[in-house]
Amino acid sequence: MLGCRQICVLYICWSRVMGLVNGFLAISLSSIQGHKEWITEVNLLGVVKHPNLVKLVGYCAEDDERGMQRLLVYELMPNKSLEDHLIARLLSPLPWIMRLKIANDAARGLAYLHEEMDFQLIFRDFKTSNVLLDEDFNAKLSDFGLARQGPSEGLGHVSTSVVGTVGYAAPEYVQTGRLTAKSDVWSFGVVLYELITGRRSVDKNLPRSEQKLLDWVKPFVSSGSKKIHLIMDTRLEGQFSPCSAQKLVSLANKCLMKQPKSRPKMSEVVEILGQIITELELSDEVVLQPDKEDEAVKENEQNEDMDSAKHRNNYLKKVFDIRDMVSLRNRSIGKLDWRNWTPVRTW
Ligand SMILES: Nc1ncnc2c1ncn2[C@@H]1O[C@H](COP(=O)(O)OP(=O)(O)OP(=O)(O)O)[C@@H](O)[C@H]1O
Ligand SMILES: [Mg+2]
Repeated sequence: MLGCRQICVLYICWSRVMGLVNGFLAISLSSIQGHKEWITEVNLLGVVKHPNLVKLVGYCAEDDERGMQRLLVYELMPNKSLEDHLIARLLSPLPWIMRLKIANDAARGLAYLHEEMDFQLIFRDFKTSNVLLDEDFNAKLSDFGLARQGPSEGLGHVSTSVVGTVGYAAPEYVQTGRLTAKSDVWSFGVVLYELITGRRSVDKNLPRSEQKLLDWVKPFVSSGSKKIHLIMDTRLEGQFSPCSAQKLVSLANKCLMKQPKSRPKMSEVVEILGQIITELELSDEVVLQPDKEDEAVKENEQNEDMDSAKHRNNYLKKVFDIRDMVSLRNRSIGKLDWRNWTPVRTW
């Protein structure tokens, strides 16, 4: 009988033999994750299949003298998580268009879980560290351990114990334990604000009035406000389209409506994000767009000043070299302890 570690080694050898070189696998040897979460993850990842959900390629659990050892093997996502890019100061900032595309990919993943299967799945732990990025920066959702089947036909919600991560859980879920797919939509709204501002949903290192992201942005983003530029991620260095930023803020606000029923469905979110991206790509506004930028650099090489072309290439290189850089993660935000955290939001 092979143990988890031997299986793990065999799996890596087999992958190499099969030509799945360069570490096709990300391995999570977990004794922290509870058995229930582990079972949920294995069961669900065996059933769900979508380009915007991370693939589970193997699993194993065994009881030994150290207690239960559980192994999950995922496809490797070379560009790590969205959190690593937004927060780790060593990494190059994600260009605006890339943020929009990542949001769109993640929204597609959630829309699939909510609306496109025979039964509904509520993700329950949507956050930047669970949005992983492949070699082309396509986004996929990971960590299904907390996912829960949605309410049966005719029922409005599922009653459950409150789990998730501080700063992302919807207020009605935290207060009543009543779970609907609209709880994920709320979390998605929080992540949109993280993409816009480059800040964490909760950051204890900031001055008190700025620690809760949603409270901090509120005065800048109420309808008709002309102050959105004041909350934009400074690492973008002004390289964003104000028009699309305004639209993204307005979408985030819809996702963060107090009444769950007033929040859009994820398929609607996908549609709105698609429109924002198309309009941006068709517009003349100056934003860095990696693919087009690359082509433009090639075309312009003959006509343009060499120095400026080089400068832009360097910028792109920085973005795509991210995979080789060290990930700095601040794990200060723990699992949801809802007794200490009641989101104060009234929009
Ligand atoms: N398949 C993968 N490929 C590459 N990196 C991964 C993969 N899965 C996870 N990671 C990296 O590991 C980090 C930690 O992920 P993990 O899910 O263990 O913790 P978390 O998301 O911060 O917290 P939680 O346990 O609440 O999900 C991610 O942010 C990412 O950088
Ligand atoms: Mg995770």
